Amino acid sequence: MKGIILAGGKGTRLYPTTIAVSKQLLPVYDKPLIYYPLSVLLLAKIRDVLVISTPEDTPNYQKLLGDGSRIGMHICYKVQETPRGLADAFILGEEFISGDCVCLVLGDNVFYGQNFGELLASAQAQIDEGGAAIFGYPVANPKEFGVVEFSQEYKVLSIEEKPQKPKSNFAVPGLYFYDNNVVAIAKKVKPSARGEIEITAVNNMYLEQNRLSVTLLGRGMAWLDTGSPGGMLKASEFVRTVQEMQGFYISCIEELAWRKGFITKTEMRKLGEELQMTDYGQYLIALSNAEVY
Ligand code: G1P
Repeated sequence: MKGIILAGGKGTRLYPTTIAVSKQLLPVYDKPLIYYPLSVLLLAKIRDVLVISTPEDTPNYQKLLGDGSRIGMHICYKVQETPRGLADAFILGEEFISGDCVCLVLGDNVFYGQNFGELLASAQAQIDEGGAAIFGYPVANPKEFGVVEFSQEYKVLSIEEKPQKPKSNFAVPGLYFYDNNVVAIAKKVKPSARGEIEITAVNNMYLEQNRLSVTLLGRGMAWLDTGSPGGMLKASEFVRTVQEMQGFYISCIEELAWRKGFITKTEMRKLGEELQMTDYGQYLIALSNAEVY
């Protein structure tokens, strides 16, 4: 399975902060925002990743993540000349996806929770049989997202993009698993009223074919909104609180690469030593000394 991180867009909701810096490079507490979605792919043991971004920002992602080999991954890049919608990721990524299944994760989505790895594994297993797997997460402000409509028996009836009158409070987070048909399906999507080829249209096409699975996430799972300055601050506070309470880091890509067997403990230690002036680097060194488990 391949992975795509969409890190494009202008981040206008965070202006003026994001006039000169890509949103997904901004810190969520102690690490760049893109580390969080990259960690989702690491957790799903996906090694081949395509990062899609703007012409101006792509060199910065290359500077940050390189070719991925330091953490045992293969990371490549594709420039999106103009923001054309989330489903454009599959058209831009056609060659990269080749004959594989694909997981798309939005570059500004932060997930954290117990058993998240198992959830990812079960979505992957499902896609191996074909179809699409997405999630539903209860939110207070569904109007701002793709929203799942259910029948009384919780059968999914439709997904609506930013509805004026949401039919449920379950938003679709920016994490999607698709079989290889997604490329052909994305090519069929017509631009919406806001001029974008919507991921929601792709999901509805899978739904029409009876090949869409929606897993509802419960209270034990955190999906953090980074769509506003307040959301960014809350996400930072969340990460700081959990990290300081537990002593475990959230979305530490070097740690995950080691835990998933992409790099050795010695390699992780070296990466920690390069950052030894920071708590982040010291954490990696402590992990390699088995001071933290
Ligand atoms: C996008 C999708 C929306 C989804 C959201 C999750 O919205 O269009 O369906 O719920 O991501 O973050 P956007 O962030 O582009 O407004």
